[in-house]
Amino acid sequence: MIHLPEHLNERQKAIYREKWLGTISIIVKTIIGIVFVAIGLFVYAAFGPTIHGWFDQPEPVPIEEIQRRIAEKEADLDRVEDGIHLETGLIAAAGWETVRASCTACHSAKLVTQNRATRDGWKTMIRWMQETQGLWELGDQEAVILDYLAANYAPEEASRRANLDMEEIEWYILEL
Ligand code: HEC
Repeated sequence: MIHLPEHLNERQKAIYREKWLGTISIIVKTIIGIVFVAIGLFVYAAFGPTIHGWFDQPEPVPIEEIQRRIAEKEADLDRVEDGIHLETGLIAAAGWETVRASCTACHSAKLVTQNRATRDGWKTMIRWMQETQGLWELGDQEAVILDYLAANYAPEEASRRANLDMEEIEWYILEL
């Protein structure tokens, strides 16, 4: 407890005590305040960049960068590798772009690439889609499409065998 001077009467002692308590209270509060500020500074020093990160606006992407990315995506859509158009899987032979434009609107190009038929067979499928599935008149493009399909998606049996390698054949005279 606080040691009070002897000559004070009770009222003065009470005032004295109160002053002391007030002073001590201010000191304690100040210390607590300093501790809090110190903790705050410490946390900021340690996690400042992270905390800033929460409030940082993302850097706006410059318009040139956006245009570059779109161009890249579009180039991807047109990319052909080993004679196959990657996006659709269509064989990139004459007329393939017409087929892509006309034949991938309603269903995947897989329906086309998984099928094999003669020119007549393809024509029948197109007629069937026109009569029952809402496929539009193809006009001049129909011949281009049929030529492409007949050439690249012909029935396996009907497709030509690979050319013979004339160098490799051992010729012999047939003896009768
Ligand atoms: C107007 C929409 C539409 C367009 C455009 C379209 N098709 Fe189809 N096609 C369909 C529908 C619908 C089916 C049936 C799909 C199914 O059975 O899941 C289908 C099915 C097919 C099939 C499978 C037929 C079968 O017997 O299994 C082939 C092959 C096909 N289409 C090829 C083509 C070709 C080639 C073109 C371009 C000339 C084309 N499609 C354009 C709607 C269309």
